[in-house]
Amino acid sequence: MYTQEVISKYGRLFSRVNRVNYVPVVAVEGRNAIIRDLSGREFIDFTSSAAVMNVGYCNERVVKAIESQVRRLNHFTFIYGFNVEALELAEKLAKLAPIDSPKILLGLSGSDACEAALVLARAFSKRKYFISYSGSFHGATVGTTSVSGIGLSTKVKEKIGEWGSVVFVPYPNCYRSPHPDNPVKCMSHYVEKIKEVLEEVGDDAAALIAEPIQGDGGIIVPPDNYFSEVKKLLDKYGVLLIDDEVQTGMGRTGKWFAIEHYGVKPDLVALGKALGNGLPISATIGREEVTKSLPPLAYGFTLSGNPVACRAALAVIEEIEERDLLERARVLGKRVLARLRKMMEEHELIGDVRGKGLMIGVELVKDRETKERAIKETKKVVWRAYELGLIVFFLSGNVLRIQPPLTVEEEVLDKGLDILEQAIRDAEEGKVGNDALKFVEGW
Ligand SMILES: Cc1ncc(COP(=O)(O)O)c(C=O)c1O
Repeated sequence: MYTQEVISKYGRLFSRVNRVNYVPVVAVEGRNAIIRDLSGREFIDFTSSAAVMNVGYCNERVVKAIESQVRRLNHFTFIYGFNVEALELAEKLAKLAPIDSPKILLGLSGSDACEAALVLARAFSKRKYFISYSGSFHGATVGTTSVSGIGLSTKVKEKIGEWGSVVFVPYPNCYRSPHPDNPVKCMSHYVEKIKEVLEEVGDDAAALIAEPIQGDGGIIVPPDNYFSEVKKLLDKYGVLLIDDEVQTGMGRTGKWFAIEHYGVKPDLVALGKALGNGLPISATIGREEVTKSLPPLAYGFTLSGNPVACRAALAVIEEIEERDLLERARVLGKRVLARLRKMMEEHELIGDVRGKGLMIGVELVKDRETKERAIKETKKVVWRAYELGLIVFFLSGNVLRIQPPLTVEEEVLDKGLDILEQAIRDAEEGKVGNDALKFVEGW
């Protein structure tokens, strides 16, 4: 089968509700940060398949763990019975989580991990409201769509109605705040917004659901003490903190959980994506008293606790620990940020560069003064990068998402950045045609 044939069959067979196009790569093989496509071309992948492949495509330790488990026991019900793999994973997660003596729920995807946290928070608190952030994304189930503030979720809610009472507050985006060059003032500005909302609905609010770094909203990094200030306010009103680590977790930002950068202990944590490095598994980790608030089996899926997925997750954790990938994420992240900031000196198209560890955003603007989003130019950069051998996606219309595996080799990383710079240059110089605008959709 040829690439074009695959792509047109996708168009005929799959519901549009399920996916969007970025670049026409039909992947057939993956090795660490490299993808080979149907035509035999190799690409450097800066996406980790949407922050999933933190320890790289076909990671040897993960592959071996899956292979041996799938031959021994490929499934045994966890919701009615017992398997050792789920237990070993829970023991590990309980040790790593930023919550004391937590209880664990296992699921299949980040969406259900967040939904579990919402359901438990509401059952525990018996309160009606959720507080969430504009621009946030917490999943595609009805509950998580309701608390997601991103444009796509808003459009969905216009069609299907809402699940509950949600109040949105602005996410602390200093670049687009009235105080872009003053983190302290920026922080007070956004803490004030939370204060206002809490004064209004604090006594009736079950939880604030927060991404410690906003992912799909455009890789937005809050100022240093923001979440510690927010937590003090939440405690005053007895509002729980749900920490959505689906995108930031498993070492992506240089810590196991990005909330650790803020020294804050949440009440519930949602994990997904990189937990299984490609296998469908998620976890919700919560304070014991909160997780007791529903009857037995109120939130379990038939395939929860699958032993193969649990073995994969255990191998991911072992790989991160043994290769000290948290430190590696920090070191490589600094290297990427330094290189991007240098690029910024030469390329007017780059309006902002930000990130922690290997969760990095490059915001492209038409004009640095007005900060008008460079939507078409961003698509052209993504297309040109693809032509030159780099897979990179964007978020929020104009933010390039740099999230390679934490295991990416330095020379591969540098080569990817060379390609990215060339793509930015070519887009700036008008060398990229309008084909990009036909194919690249994104969201
Ligand atoms: C922060 C965050 N939460 C939840 C989700 C939903 O996870 P999934 O799509 O794996 O169900 C995502 C997915 O992008 C995410 O980025």
